[in-house]
Amino acid sequence: MNSQSKGLVIYSSLSGNTKKLAEYISENIRQECSLADIKDNPEIDDVPWIIAGFWVDKGTADKEFLHFLSTLEHKKICLIGTLGAYPDSDHAKDVIKRMKEEVEKGNTYLGCYLCQGKISPKLTKTFENFPEGHPHFMDDARRKRHEEAAKHPDENDLLQGLAYCKDKLSGL
Ligand SMILES: Cc1cc2nc3c(=O)[nH]c(=O)nc-3n(C[C@H](O)[C@H](O)[C@H](O)COP(=O)(O)O)c2cc1C
Repeated sequence: MNSQSKGLVIYSSLSGNTKKLAEYISENIRQECSLADIKDNPEIDDVPWIIAGFWVDKGTADKEFLHFLSTLEHKKICLIGTLGAYPDSDHAKDVIKRMKEEVEKGNTYLGCYLCQGKISPKLTKTFENFPEGHPHFMDDARRKRHEEAAKHPDENDLLQGLAYCKDKLSGL
């Protein structure tokens, strides 16, 4: 690993869940790194690795994150992200598969850690207004998932995310 330059932890976060995860990892990774909001366009020319955080928007990473990713070349990238769905769901697995492909368009993919993040009350309300039979109708399973998401990211998610990133960076 290039010991001259610092790694970068960068995040895109609408309501703070992904920011919380990224902050925790940057503070505890025990590697020289800086933390940046994607909106601040940080310097990325010389970074030996990037931990890059996104929130899931309609089955993929949010648009700002996808744009940022499309500007990167020849970087070693470990993805982190938060979503409303369960991290072991098919939905989450699809997100990971898609995002791996996105990274591999011009960069090295180190892995992707996902955990749940609380869903905005506005979005929950939208689901509650869908009629029975609608694909997003607020049935018991969906309500339970929204209630569970409201508790995340929790301490365990942060610890797991940190351990995941440490492991992925250890081989560099
Ligand atoms: C407009 C919108 C679309 C979303 N789409 C999805 C989705 O397709 N799948 C999912 O699991 N969660 C979805 N979510 C939930 C967010 O991914 C989740 O709440 C995430 O933790 C938000 O992260 P943030 O606080 O960093 O913005 C959506 C949330 C919003 C507001």
